[in-house]
Amino acid sequence: MAEMLKKDTLEENTSRSTVVEAVGLTKEFRDFWNRPKAKAVNDIDFTVQEGEIVGLLGPNGSGKSTTVKMLLGLLYPTAGQLSVFGKSPRDVDTKKLIGYLPEESYLYKYLTAYETLDFFGSLFGLSAAEREKRTSQLLEMVGLEHAKDRPVGEFSKGMIRRIGLAQAMINDPSFLILDEPTSGLDPLGCREVKDLILMLKKRGKTVIVTSHLLSDIEDVCDRVVILYGGRIRAQGTLNELLTIQSTNTITTPNLPPAAMEKLLAVLRSNLKEEEFKIEHPRMSLEEFFLDVVNKAQSESVETYGARAGGQIADYLSSGQKDVPEVSGKELLDTLAGKVKEEVTEKKEPEAEAVKPVIDSSRLHSLEVDSLKSDSQEKKEQTPDTPKRDLSEANKRLSSLLSGKTEENKQDAEE
Ligand SMILES: Nc1ncnc2c1ncn2[C@@H]1O[C@H](COP(=O)(O)OP(=O)(O)O)[C@@H](O)[C@H]1O
Ligand SMILES: [Mg+2]
Repeated sequence: MAEMLKKDTLEENTSRSTVVEAVGLTKEFRDFWNRPKAKAVNDIDFTVQEGEIVGLLGPNGSGKSTTVKMLLGLLYPTAGQLSVFGKSPRDVDTKKLIGYLPEESYLYKYLTAYETLDFFGSLFGLSAAEREKRTSQLLEMVGLEHAKDRPVGEFSKGMIRRIGLAQAMINDPSFLILDEPTSGLDPLGCREVKDLILMLKKRGKTVIVTSHLLSDIEDVCDRVVILYGGRIRAQGTLNELLTIQSTNTITTPNLPPAAMEKLLAVLRSNLKEEEFKIEHPRMSLEEFFLDVVNKAQSESVETYGARAGGQIADYLSSGQKDVPEVSGKELLDTLAGKVKEEVTEKKEPEAEAVKPVIDSSRLHSLEVDSLKSDSQEKKEQTPDTPKRDLSEANKRLSSLLSGKTEENKQDAEE
């Protein structure tokens, strides 16, 4: 296998350019007295080629995030060499080519989804027109179009992950680093993130994705690097790592009893004392679950929160134009069933009414909102509650706070 690995790596090296090269990469954290505290990453070698999806897998504390932070130039390696696009990770030009989804998203909770992306777009110096185009394409792509005017502070964990993914793509990066992108997502959301990663690959993007749940990203990675205790324990393509060369599986349609008898006779005479097994293959729990959800959706059972994502954002540049493109919509529709259109239509007029610019007066009213009870909050989130109620409530509250009730006002006038 070692030989096969070597051959594979050589072939790849000649055909594609190298995006990441780490040799003897080490990171040691030290305590206050400069004594070594933890070797988070311990002498690791790995490469990532252009257009590849590489999974960095390992249990909690195995050094995934530390490796990622060194790739981003956020942490200095203690020893070893690390290059990203042939340069130091701290190179400013390199940073422009990278999109990063942190393990924990730090978002300003009072900004809406739209404003959040607009803000990150402005950090990359994009023009207002470009920001508007990218923001709406990304919101559609990650299935948050309907929630674009809701403050991210009220988003579910899954929705936060989606806005984080959109934010990582605002600068049209050619290399994406996604730290635990599926954490906190339900199986449906997980599948969507995986499909999104596959869409990015079709656009020729290079992706590093970390996870402590192997099954979460197993089927999207071209190659995996398995870390434990800061060291690489195994790496290679899934075929190389997972194929059991010493056994065979033959899958046939159900055989009539006579044919089965013949087959068993052949097997017995050939295998002598060795054991063999004939059984019905089982689908994975993920496949089964998605099937159940698919049925519920085709029966129009209502759900709330994030919706199925849409087509890949047009502006995302493509490195491999000749690769046939599968539309994200097609993928997600077949996967999860079509989400009811009318719900989106019903919410749209209200969404349009709120202008997507940062409005300081709204920040004030949001603060006042937090003083209200849960049930009031839920009532105001329904699409047909008039906006007027909120402003009247705010007015009343501020006059109460300033001590000027209607009666007080009259007293003062007299
Ligand atoms: N800033 C830090 N200071 C000290 N130790 C740290 C720091 N960051 C991470 N570590 C330690 O390094 C190890 C690897 O952490 P991390 O890279 O976050 O793992 P993973 O992302 O695989 O869960 C852990 O033992 C962790 O406690
Ligand atoms: Mg981590």
